[in-house]
This record gives sequence, structure tokens and C-alpha cells, in this order.
Amino acid sequence: MAETTDLLDAGERLGAEELRQVQLDRLRAQLRHAYTNVPFYRDSFDKAGVHPDGCRSLADLARFPFTTKADLREHYPYGMFAVPRERIRRIHASSGTTGRPTVVGYTDNDLSMWGDVVARSIRAAGGRPGDTVHVAYGYGLFTGGLGAHYGAERLGCTVIPASGGMTARQVQLIQDLKPGIIMVTPSYMLTLLDEFERQGVDPRSTSLRVGIFGAEPWTEGMRREIEERFAIDAVDIYGLSEVIGPGVAQECVETKDGLHVHEDHFYPEIVDPLTGEVLPDGERGELVFTSLTKEAMPVIRYRTRDLTRLLPGTARTFRRMEKITGRSDDMVILRGVNLFPTQIEEIVLRTPGVAPHFQLRLTREGRLDALTVRAEARPDAAAGTRQDAARSIAAAVKDGIGVSVAVEIVEPESLERSVGKIRRIVDLRPS
Ligand code: DLL
Repeated sequence: MAETTDLLDAGERLGAEELRQVQLDRLRAQLRHAYTNVPFYRDSFDKAGVHPDGCRSLADLARFPFTTKADLREHYPYGMFAVPRERIRRIHASSGTTGRPTVVGYTDNDLSMWGDVVARSIRAAGGRPGDTVHVAYGYGLFTGGLGAHYGAERLGCTVIPASGGMTARQVQLIQDLKPGIIMVTPSYMLTLLDEFERQGVDPRSTSLRVGIFGAEPWTEGMRREIEERFAIDAVDIYGLSEVIGPGVAQECVETKDGLHVHEDHFYPEIVDPLTGEVLPDGERGELVFTSLTKEAMPVIRYRTRDLTRLLPGTARTFRRMEKITGRSDDMVILRGVNLFPTQIEEIVLRTPGVAPHFQLRLTREGRLDALTVRAEARPDAAAGTRQDAARSIAAAVKDGIGVSVAVEIVEPESLERSVGKIRRIVDLRPS
């Protein structure tokens, strides 16, 4: 612990009081920056009857209007930028499922801050200067690859920019180049696991000691599975393009108790997803972020649609966010009951004989929606256990979530594998 404390950066060393003061100073400047330089914010603040000068405490932020993904889409591509295009050094974009992508931009200073928060994240995960980091997040418009890359370089690591895909080669690279750390989506880590086994290499025998997993929801059950199968520590990294990319929040390896939000740069709030009312720390709701130090694209009260709650800091002064349960968009409403893929993941992962690969199929029977959980049998599971497994998953869903679903245990390796962010829900309902 002493060693870790020595390594903390200036932001992480702030005491609680100092942090609040830094946040307030930065918030006021960021609101002014947005209001002065982005017509969208000027209009929306004016309409709501608020002005940056009226923000005198952190609680005053609640009076400012929200920003949504639809707002960003409407001002595609450059309408949310607060600096001239020539000062934009990098563009990223997130595709989303429909319509225009969301374009985000970074100045030199933004890229530098991003490098700092990702370096901080890797260090919190147990990485140190001199480590070798295998980056298997996709490189390109997605923020995962390049975000991880520059953060690892900033920390003083050797980076292997593997990107996603070409799974057989990834396994080869890991064996030959001997990275201590891997950064990848948890679902693609499972694809790598299959490949290690196919090549006859014991996944527990590699040089890897830490995995930094994010970009999609994953559960404690998945953590146990990955830690056990690879003999590594698995920690969570969170972020989104609109706010910066990976590095908004990071779990510390010594506590593994949720993600410390890098609050000196990104101010979190939890709101009631329906009413927008700010909820106290400890209550579950939708995560909302306000950037505190961004130049190119400040975001004020951005609605992430991610559901979690804020908890006091432990290994750091920063508040923690609990592991994300899911996005409000991924919530299935089945006969009036709300269900998240992560709830099914927890159940699948504790069912004997079932592999951590599953898919949720939504269909319509008459006027009612129906859900089928398809999960793979483990290759070593006895044929007779499949019936039991299906029954046990269905019963656990009924008891724990309160809704009836069909369960099919399918052949090993029959479900599609992830190369990046996995899609759990297959919606076969007529539109
Ligand atoms: O996924 C940034 C990222 C890259 C984070 C690599 C971590 C690692 P987007 O493509 O804009 O950015 O998607 C952001 O992904 O709103 C969440 O719904 C989800 N997400 C990201 N990290 C986590 C996580 C990147 N650790 C969206 N747990 C977010 C759960 C996550 N969901």
C-alpha cells in the first residue's frame, strides 16, 4: 500500500475538501467555456434560465439542463465543438445502433489529460512503468484501442498494439512477447480463452498477471471465471466516447470494490432516469457526467443511460461507482418485469456444466414477448447434466427476477464469439 501511495498523481492526492474546491473552480470555468463557445449550450442554458455565474456550489449544477445523445446527433458532426477545427487534433466516433455516429474531438490538452487518466487507471490496476501491455481493444474510431495505447505509453509501459481480431495471432503474441497486462473487452477475453485451449496452451501458464476489462457490462461471476481460468487479477475500467473514452473510472486491484471515478476531471451525478431528479449517493439510477477540464468538447450533465450508484471512496479519495448493471437501452421489459443481461450472466455463470457463453433471444408469441436464454454446455459436461442445467437456470430466473423464460443448453462453441463489444440480445420480434 505504501508503494501505491508514493505513486499517486497530484489529483489522486487531493483530500476530500480540496477536491470539492478544485471541482467547483473547474466546473465554473467549464460552464463558462461551454456557454461562451457552443451555441447549443448558450441556447439551452438561456431557455432553462440559468447562467454559469449562477453556479456557486456543486449542488447548483442540478439546475442546469441535461445533454443527451440525441443532442449530440443533432449537432453532427462538429456542432458541439468549443474550439476552432484547426485546434482539434483527433476525432473519434461511436457508431451506435441506428443513424449517424456520434463524433467527438480532442485538442492537444484533451489528449494529454486522457493519457493521464488512462495511465492512472493502469497504475490503479497494478501496472507499473516498464510493464508490457497487450492492447486488444479495437484501434480506430472506437476510443478503446488508442485510448489504452496512449495511457500505457504515458505510464512508461511497452505497448503491443494488437487491436481486435486475428485471435490465433493474439495468442501467439502473448506467448512470445510476454505481456504482464492485457486490456480487452471481457467477452473477447473469453474468445482468447477458447483459442489458448485450441492451441493446447494452458491459459494459466502465460506471463499475464492483470486484465483491465471494460467497454461492456460484466459481472462478479465473469470476474471469477476469468481470474480462475487465466490465473490473473481482473479489474474493471469504464468510460464513454462522449466524456473522453476509457479512463473515466477505474477499479483498484487491491480492493476490487467498484470503480473510482476520476472526479477531478469528470463530475458524476446519479439521477432518476424518469424524472431527472438528482439522487443521493448510495441510490441507484442513471449516471450523468459533466466534464471539468475539456477544451474541444465540454459535456454538461450528459445522460449516459448507464445504471449504477455512487459510493464513498476506499483505496482513493474519489467516490466509487458500483459495477454497471446495464444500460437503460439494454433493459428487456418482459411481461412488465425489467430484466438486464447482467442478471442472466450471474445466473449462467453459477450454473454447473454451463459455459460463460450465452445469448438472449426475444420473440413474440401472439401478443406476448417471450425470452429464450441460450447458453452453451461446457465441453466437459456430461450429456445428462444439460436438462438439469436448463431447469436450474429457468428456476433461478423465475425466483430471482420474477419472470418465466425458456432455456436451451446448446452445443459447445455453437454461439457466436465476440471480437469486441458483445451483443447479448437478439431481437427477433416483428417491428
Ligand atoms: O466503450 C470506452 C471504453 C473503451 C471503455 C475501453 C472501457 C474500455 P463507447 O464505445 O462510447 O466507449 O461506449 C460507452 O460502453 O456508456 C457503457 O454503456 C459501456 N461501458 C463502457 N465501459 C463499461 C464498463 C467505450 N466497464 C458505453 N462496464 C458506456 C459496463 C461499460 N459498461
